[in-house]
Amino acid sequence: MLLPARRPDGSGRRKASRATTVRGVNIDFDELQAQARTTLDPGVFQYFAGAAEDEETLADNRLAWRRRKLRPRFLVDVDVIDTSTSVLGTPLPTPMMVAPMAYQRLLHDDGELAVARGSAATGTPMIASTMATHSLEDIAAAAGGGPMWFQLYVHEDRDFTLALCHRARDAGYRAIAVTLDMPRLGNRRRARRIGFEMPSVVPNFAMEGGPSGNRYASRGFDVSVTEEMLGWLSREAGLPILVKGILRGDDALRSLDAGAAGIIVSNHGGRQLDGAIATADALGEVAAAVDGRAPIVVDSGIRSGTDVVRALALGAQAVLIGRPVAWALATGGAVGVQAALEALQAEIDLAFRLAGVRSVAEITPDLIATV
Ligand code: FNR
Ligand code: LAC
Repeated sequence: MLLPARRPDGSGRRKASRATTVRGVNIDFDELQAQARTTLDPGVFQYFAGAAEDEETLADNRLAWRRRKLRPRFLVDVDVIDTSTSVLGTPLPTPMMVAPMAYQRLLHDDGELAVARGSAATGTPMIASTMATHSLEDIAAAAGGGPMWFQLYVHEDRDFTLALCHRARDAGYRAIAVTLDMPRLGNRRRARRIGFEMPSVVPNFAMEGGPSGNRYASRGFDVSVTEEMLGWLSREAGLPILVKGILRGDDALRSLDAGAAGIIVSNHGGRQLDGAIATADALGEVAAAVDGRAPIVVDSGIRSGTDVVRALALGAQAVLIGRPVAWALATGGAVGVQAALEALQAEIDLAFRLAGVRSVAEITPDLIATV
């Protein structure tokens, strides 16, 4: 028996001290997902957990990070380290941000407001989705002045698209991630099988001349962003533009040439083209093509501090965390989001020290084994 037996008066119970101090907290995101599953409507759970078609890319995303093995450095004094960095002027206490995710009110009444509060409490910027269930102004207010980015789905109506960008700028958002990988919604078989319907209420559309969420959602995300559109957005949006969904070096270069200021390597968490390359496998090619011209952020399947170190060693400047934040929101609201991000921050800190790196600048490609 590994645990001391409990005495009848309870005095033999293991003290919860470590496990409940926020910085030392240990969170297993698979367990958190299982816990969220017990409380959520089954359709909502499958919408968040699921991905496209056979979910080949969903599974590969996580495996591909794990295939990269680390070569830690020793004989390094890691007593004092600095995990902070910045991307396009946005300061990050660790190289991590919260990925944009639609419809967060399905998970918790406070939805995006709770994610904004919980993430701001850890200094981690959140990216608010166009498909948020609170307005981008209310989300910014909930973050209390903490830095945030806005994620844009480009709409056919350019005036409406630009008005969204200008609202984001006026509300204090610092950059716009334009998502390229959704010319149509991917075939989310798991969610469809269970009869999940996208909600029709999107408060960001509640503006003069805006489409109703209903019409937008029912027509699907019928948008294709071309280089011409990207150039126009980069000139007019009033904020730096990052392109989200890049999986090839040539697309990264075309985006930068068109005016983008940064690249987000992503396959949308496996939710769009099934069979698409895992981001850990795509990142090296993109980083080689970009060659330091612009910052690279990566997401999809990143679940631990060691994944973050691997992502930086493969050429990213920061990562985005998606579903783990959704499960934290569903199970614990703002406090849950804060605890999940603090757990990841503690893991990142530990991974730096165990790998023998004292700053993001010291995370270089030789940390990854070539075998
Ligand atoms: C997303 N993602 C997403 N991306 C985006 O640009 N705009 C959006 O509105 C959404 N919505 C959304 C909803 C849900 C339920 C999920 C799970 C994901 C994709 C997201 O930003 C990110 O790319 C992935 O979630 C990252 O992968 P992990 O961390 O979830 O594996
Ligand atoms: C999704 C969209 C809305 O992944 O981004 O479901």
